Amino acid sequence: MLKKIFSRYTPLQIAMHAYAWSVLVILVFELITGNLSANPIQELEQRTGRHAITLLILSLACTPLNTLFKWTELLKRRRALGLYAFLYATIHVIIFFNLDYGLAWSLIAQTIFEKPYIIVGLIGFILLIPLAASSFDLWKKRLGKRWKRIHQTIYFIVPLVLLHYAWGKKGDFFALQGEIIRPLVYTVIAVILLVMRIPPVRRFLASLPSRILLLLRKRGTQSETIA
Ligand code: HEM
Repeated sequence: MLKKIFSRYTPLQIAMHAYAWSVLVILVFELITGNLSANPIQELEQRTGRHAITLLILSLACTPLNTLFKWTELLKRRRALGLYAFLYATIHVIIFFNLDYGLAWSLIAQTIFEKPYIIVGLIGFILLIPLAASSFDLWKKRLGKRWKRIHQTIYFIVPLVLLHYAWGKKGDFFALQGEIIRPLVYTVIAVILLVMRIPPVRRFLASLPSRILLLLRKRGTQSETIA
């Protein structure tokens, strides 16, 4: 059985699916066994939110990492990572509307207006829907050039979701106060990944391995002539 799995799927594929599903299984298990925390709904909300953003950033990392390391398999994993991110974001949103607020729409509306970070999260989630829906090959073909434009909204969605995260934590980035470490780490990683996609930066990164190789060869021949 294990041999069959390893011959059929790559280690990266196995790691990705194992991570995505094990998190869900652990969450459900902890919920059923009452091992979550004193505030299980909040814990569920926070953990699903964090996994959604982690998976979103992992899907964003595929293209720049392929540019740098020429690891083309990463490009094949982007879609699944993005869809897993959407799955966790959906669970996160359902927990908020259903478990947390019991679909009490007037209370939900009041909370949304009182807490602007919720509006930011809501916009982020709404914008994720067309991305997830059009991620399949059929839509890629049907939408043609528009597909790329739709998927470029990710550059807007990621900062929105990060703002939702940092704002929700009530930290102060500028005064370096509050629970800012985790949102700050995610933001720094996302900024690096987004910068790596800027065309001149991407071109530089693509040529980096051959530049390093050339430099190493030059050094090698220099030390040979000195010897
Ligand atoms: C309708 C849309 C959304 C609503 C109503 C919503 C609601 C919330 C709420 C209430 C919290 C605070 C939980 C707490 O600390 O008590 C939260 C935190 C968070 N949400 Fe959302 N959210 C939405 C969309 C999203 C999306 C699309 C993502 C990511 C892709 C996301 C990621 C996060 C993260 C990372 C946290 C912080 C988790 C932590 O405290 O460590 N949210 N969200």
